[in-house]
Amino acid sequence: MSLIDDIRMTRDISRETLEQLLTTDDKESIEDLRRQAREVATEVYGNKIFMRGLIELTSHCKNDCLYCGLRRSNTTASRYRLTDEEIYACCATGYRLGFRTFVMQGGEDGWFDDKRMCRIVSTIRKQYPDCAITLSLGERSRESYQALFDAGANRYLLRHETASAEHYARLHPAEMSFQHRIDCLWTLKEIGYQVGCGFMVGSPYQTFDTLYADLQFIRELQPQMVGIGPFISAHDTPFADFPNGKVTYTLRLLAIIRLLHPHVLLPATTALGTLHPHGRELGIQFGANVVMPNLSPVEHRKDYSIYDNKICTGEESAECRACTEGRIRKIGYETVVDRGDYKG
Ligand code: 5AD
Ligand code: FES
Repeated sequence: MSLIDDIRMTRDISRETLEQLLTTDDKESIEDLRRQAREVATEVYGNKIFMRGLIELTSHCKNDCLYCGLRRSNTTASRYRLTDEEIYACCATGYRLGFRTFVMQGGEDGWFDDKRMCRIVSTIRKQYPDCAITLSLGERSRESYQALFDAGANRYLLRHETASAEHYARLHPAEMSFQHRIDCLWTLKEIGYQVGCGFMVGSPYQTFDTLYADLQFIRELQPQMVGIGPFISAHDTPFADFPNGKVTYTLRLLAIIRLLHPHVLLPATTALGTLHPHGRELGIQFGANVVMPNLSPVEHRKDYSIYDNKICTGEESAECRACTEGRIRKIGYETVVDRGDYKG
C-alpha cells in the first residue's frame, strides 16, 4: 500500500509524511497523490466545479497584517468602498450570469458596521431567496456575526492564517490576537454558519511544523470550506522582499486536504492562478472543486490589491465568468452555478 492509500483510508497524515510529500521529487508519488485526491473529489462532487461570485466590498482595513497590501500602514494603497447600490448591481449582474452564491469580502472596515451590513444582507436575502450569501469581513463580535446570520447570511470565510500562535505573532502586529481569531471561527460555527478557514502556503516563517498544526486545526474545526493559496509578496509591506509561496506545495496541500476531508469545499484560488498561468486548473486537478470569478466593478478591481500582479483585474464580470468556465471545460470539468452546498 502506498503512503497515499494510507492517508486516504485513515484520513490522517503524520508530520513526517507531510514533509516527505511536500519535498519529494518522485514524480510517481506526486501523480499518485494528485490522482487519488481528484478521485476522492469526484466520488463526492462528481466532475462539478462550483462557481461563486466574488464581490470585493472595501479596500479599507483597520488591521495591519504584515503580509497584506491593504494593511492600514500602506499609505500607497488606493482605498474604495462600494455603495449599497453598487453592491446590489454586482448581485444583479451575478444573478443574470447564473451565480447562486455571492461572496462579499472586504478589509476590516468600520464603515460596514452591523447596521449597514445587515441592511445589505437582508436586502440581498429578500431579492434572491435562492442564493447563498457568504461573508468574508474578518473578525467581528459574536453579536455582529449573529445579527448578520439573522439577516440572512449563510456562510463565513475567515482564514485562520496559521495554527501556531508563535507564527501568528510574526505575521501580525501585537494588537492582533491569535486566540481571538480562533475563537471567532468557533463562534461562527456555533451560530450555524458554514465556515471556511485557511492559510497561505509559504508565508514568511512558515515551517512543516506550522503546516502540520494547520492540518490538525482543520481536523478539529471540521470546517465546510478551506481556502489556501500561495503567499505572494505585496509591495510597500514589511514582507515585500520575501519569496512567493510555492505552487507545488500549494497543489500538494490541496490534494492532502482533499484526502483528509473528502467533503470539504476547496477553492482553486486567484492567488494560485496569479503564480501560474494554469494554477487554478492545476488546483482542480489536485482536488479543488470551487472557483470564485470576480464580480466586483472593474473600476475598483485594481485597488483590491492584497498582493502584487493579481489576475482578473481588467475583465468584466461576464468575461471572467466565461473565461473561468472555458478553462474548466477545457480540462474536462463542468462548472455549476447553483448554491453548491456542502455535502456533509
Ligand atoms: N499573498 C497571498 N494571500 C494573501 N492574503 C493576504 N495577503 C496575501 C498575500 N500577500 C490572504 C490572507 C487573507 C485573504 C483574504 O488573503 O490569507 O485571509
Ligand atoms: Fe477572470 Fe480569467 S477568470 S479573467
